[in-house]
Amino acid sequence: MSDAPLVAAARDGWTAVARSDALDAGPVGSTVLGEPVVVARLGDEVVALPDRCGHRGAPLSGGDVRPAPDGRPCLVCPYHGLHHDASGAAVHLPARPTGRLPRRLDREPWPVRERHGLVWVSLSSEPVGEPPPWSAFDRDDVVRFQLEPELWEVAPGRIVENFNDLAHFPFVHAETFGDASSPDVADITVESDAATIRHRIEMSQLDRQTLDGPLVPIDVTYSYVHQFPFATELEIRFDDDRTEWIQMTVAPVDDDRALVFQQNARNFDLDGDLAAWAAFQQAVNDEDHGLLGALRPRRARPDCADLHEIALAVDDFTIAYRRRWAQLLVG
Ligand code: FES
Ligand code: FE
Repeated sequence: MSDAPLVAAARDGWTAVARSDALDAGPVGSTVLGEPVVVARLGDEVVALPDRCGHRGAPLSGGDVRPAPDGRPCLVCPYHGLHHDASGAAVHLPARPTGRLPRRLDREPWPVRERHGLVWVSLSSEPVGEPPPWSAFDRDDVVRFQLEPELWEVAPGRIVENFNDLAHFPFVHAETFGDASSPDVADITVESDAATIRHRIEMSQLDRQTLDGPLVPIDVTYSYVHQFPFATELEIRFDDDRTEWIQMTVAPVDDDRALVFQQNARNFDLDGDLAAWAAFQQAVNDEDHGLLGALRPRRARPDCADLHEIALAVDDFTIAYRRRWAQLLVG
């Protein structure tokens, strides 16, 4: 049994492929489920096309955005300068500006959305649902940052399960925010429907946002909303006035690798050092990354009774996640 059905589920939904601000510097290439994808901002439109020129197969993500002779913004191939407009049509070849271009050079665009600081693509012409409603990132009363997307040699499902796992905080994150003096995990409330898994818990962590912050424990409430299969928003309520949101999603490159996107927003310490806050989050993620890379088997499996893994009472999210995943196997 493989996790291929889980990864394939991403084909019908939405996958983050780039930070919105990255498109300001030019086209961005990515790989989703083995498919090379390029996204580019052409004027007011963001487009997603196969990242392979129809002439000699050059990656269009290596090119740039320039106007065609008629002024339309185009994605220009880096090899011979073939111009593609926002519909994916090949409209101009500088070496033969008046010649006719075969229609087979046209690239079929994929559905694309730009939401909450990220660009999302669907590999289905009829995508299911919408990208997650991460509106906390756009609020007027918050400060925010986005980490650089990072390629992890870790199965996508493992990364999702870890982001939704609380029992590891006092161990994996003892050097950053985990409260090693309070490893007990209270009962977790889990609610599931076809599209989401929500879980909520109160737990102790260290009340810090930077690596040199105080080592003072605080009871916080974690509320997770996971949008199946690969996007989760975590709301951390420190007290009545202070809330942080952490939004994490992975783009499945293939069954064993994922591009990890993460962005944070908070409604407190608005004048704080954002770079120090981002460095703190990066240190937390590095702790997860190191541990996840060492898990065996490398891929999680939907059957919790698998001989290699035994579910525990703290695994409520993972049990719900794998149950949803197992349903994919039976259709
Ligand atoms: Fe793209 Fe030649 S390979 S124009
Ligand atoms: Fe972690």
